[in-house]
Order: sequence, then C-alpha cells, then structure tokens
Amino acid sequence: MTYSLEGKNIALGVTGSIACYKAVDLASKLVQLQANVDVLMTDAALQFLTPLNFAAITHRPVVTSMFDPESELSINHVVAAERADLVAVVPATANSLAKIAHGRADDPVSATILATRAPVLVAPAMDANMFDNTATQANVRLLEERGVYIAGPAEGRMASGLVGKGRLLEPSELVGHIRILLGHGGDLAGRKIVVSAGGTREAIDPVRVIANHSSGKMGYAIAEAARDRGAEAVIVSAPTALPNPTGVKVVKVNSALEMGHALDVECTGADAIVMAAAVADWRVAEIADQKVKKSGANNWTIDLVKNPDLIAGIHAEKLVKVGFAAESEDLIENARAKIQSKGLHFIVANDITAEDAGFAVDDNRVIILDREGSVERLPLMSKYDVGVEVLDRVKPLLRGG
Ligand code: PMT
Repeated sequence: MTYSLEGKNIALGVTGSIACYKAVDLASKLVQLQANVDVLMTDAALQFLTPLNFAAITHRPVVTSMFDPESELSINHVVAAERADLVAVVPATANSLAKIAHGRADDPVSATILATRAPVLVAPAMDANMFDNTATQANVRLLEERGVYIAGPAEGRMASGLVGKGRLLEPSELVGHIRILLGHGGDLAGRKIVVSAGGTREAIDPVRVIANHSSGKMGYAIAEAARDRGAEAVIVSAPTALPNPTGVKVVKVNSALEMGHALDVECTGADAIVMAAAVADWRVAEIADQKVKKSGANNWTIDLVKNPDLIAGIHAEKLVKVGFAAESEDLIENARAKIQSKGLHFIVANDITAEDAGFAVDDNRVIILDREGSVERLPLMSKYDVGVEVLDRVKPLLRGG
C-alpha cells in the first residue's frame, strides 16, 4: 500500500455548476495519484466545460450522452459504474442531488449512480438558499440514510455574491474525502490510532520560545496513512504550518506538558500511540510574565527543569506504544536503550544529520528496532510510506488483532 491511488478506478460525475472548474483540478489530482478516472458529464455541465478539459487530463473518453454509439462507455453505461471502486459526483447541483435521491437515471451521471455497487460520494455545490431548502435537505438526508457519503458543502462566498453554506469543497479536501471513503472497511477500521507530531515549544517569556526543527510532516503522514486504512486517526500536534488533514482530528498544543495532557485524554480507549513528535526534554523553570529586557548584560542564563517523559508515562491498557528516536550519533544503541526505558513495543530510529531525511523534508530513512532485538533498515521513502510500514508493524500487535 502506498500513497498513490494506483489501480483505483474512480468514476467522476460532473454536473452543471459554476464550480465545475474545480472538478478539472480534482481529476488532475487523482490522475497524478495514479487513479484511473472515468469522467461523465451532464448536459448542464457541458454549458460550463467541454469534454476536452477532462479527456486531456484523464487520457480517457468522456461520457456525455447515454446514447453515443461511438463511446464504449455510453453504449453500455454500466461499464463505468461496474469498474468503479468509487463514484464521486463533483460538483453535485440541487437538481442532481434530487435525481440521485429519487432514483432517476436520465443522464450519464444519475444512470451511473443507479448502476454502481461502489461507494458513492456526493459533493454539493449550490446557492445557500437552495442548499437550505427543505426539499434539498430532505434529499441529503435520504442519501445519507442510504449510505451515500456527503462531502461538504463549505461556508463562504458564492458565485451569486451571497455568503452562506453551499461552496464546493476544495479539490485537495475532496481527495481527502475520497481517501476516507476508499479506506472504509480497511484493515484498521474500528481502531483508534493517536499520533503526536511537530516540535513542542517551551515559553521563555510572552515573546520567546525554545523550539526545535520538527515540521510535523512525519506525524501527519502517519495519521493520514492510518485514516486511509479506515482507522479513527487523531493527531496531537505541536505548532506546525501544515493544514489539518481531512477526516483526522487534530488537537493543537504548544508545550510538552500540554501535549502530555492531550495524550492522556486521547489515549484513553485508543489502540495505539505513535510518538513522532519532537518533545522538549526541558522547560523553563519560571516563565517570565513580561518580555525580558536586554538591560546592559552580555549573558542571559535560563534555568531549565526536566519535562516528564510523555510516552513512558502513558499506561493505558493494551495500548501499542511506538516511539521515534531522533539521533545524531550511535543511532542503533541509543534507540535500543529507549525501547526499554520508555516501555515501547518498537522504535523508529532516524538519523537527523542526514540531509535527505529526518527533519522537515518529505522523505525519511528509518531503522525499526523491536523488543525482541530485530533491526530492520528501510530505504529512503516518503514519510507516508514510512507511516504505512509503521502501521504494518502496529497491526499484529493490536488487541485481538
Ligand atoms: O516533524 P518532521 O520535520 O517530519 O521530523 C520528523 C522527526 C525527525 C521529528 C521524527 O521522525 C522523530 O524522530 N521524532 C522523535 C523526535 C524525538 O523527540 O526523539 P527523542 O529521541 O528525543 O525521543 C524519543 C521518543 O520519546 C520520541 O518518540 C519522543 O516523542 C518521546 N519523548 C521524548 C521526550 C519526552 N519528554 N517525552 C517523550 O515522549
């Protein structure tokens, strides 16, 4: 399993909304992730875009009619429906929602929905009043009751100039929702995986902090990999510049002590904790209330006190505990010692002096050491793929797993 959607067939139904242009971006993102994308357009969608917009991206014929004898798909419109691993209607107008809710099949999109057994995602896009309308709301409820996954809409400014709930979600968010739906029933379904991420910050005064180079990328990638396998994923996150991943709960903290409190809450009832955060070992003994002035001195000594070891202090029953080790020397020896001192099932060691791995970059090169003494060296790979490898080793350790 990798970050790509290789081998996944996604039928993308495009209906007539000004937000159609986002469907082009979505198709492009899905193709970049190596999915096979079959696009189906309604007549109304053809008012906004041409089939060429999609065909040029997907390298596949676009279905625009139920009765096009030239098209392999439209002669037998169930082909797209049958080979789809997921059908996504993006954007979905009020009219198309109504049609789908009531089992109509008079255009390629609604016909595909009726013909498919694959999970269906619908991303509404319409004027706020149309979305609020009791008829539309009843249609949304009907679809939800039947297991259709409704993604959005978001609140914001719409084409009409009005502000309200009806905006199509952004393509990157839609990719997240597609991943969630594809992951339903995955091998970690029903599991709660907590991941810590980022570098904690210890305040010195209201302006200054003690921080480190962790970007949060490693932890966020593990949480996304867990989400994509059907787990309930939670990130306890120190400050980062990363966006919240779709479908992942993110609990924001600053200091090591705050992270500890959040982990206590989130690990209750969880199945595993993966501690990818770079936690400050020390905090300032007394945080100044006011900004410390330079005065005339050339030196400034700050008293530090030890932070508790967070992962060592978590004792939830049957929780699988995974640590990371950021080392600049004696990688294996130092990492091995931490398995025992922190009560871990295994530890993921990374050399933070490497330029192409470790802090802030997209890839990592790790060595996984376990309690039994095994040492596995993995090659350089994306942090998402490291997450997949970590979760593959967490899975057999899970209670009843
Ligand atoms: O965020 P990125 O930019 O993607 O970088 C990723 C990373 C390099 C930060 C990550 O891969 C990593 O190595 N994280 C662990 C960093 C760390 O704090 O290592 P450590 O060897 O100091 O600690 C060992 C383990 O104990 C870690 O799981 C740490 O989270 C945990 N710990 C440490 C101190 C403390 N007081 N409490 C803890 O729980």
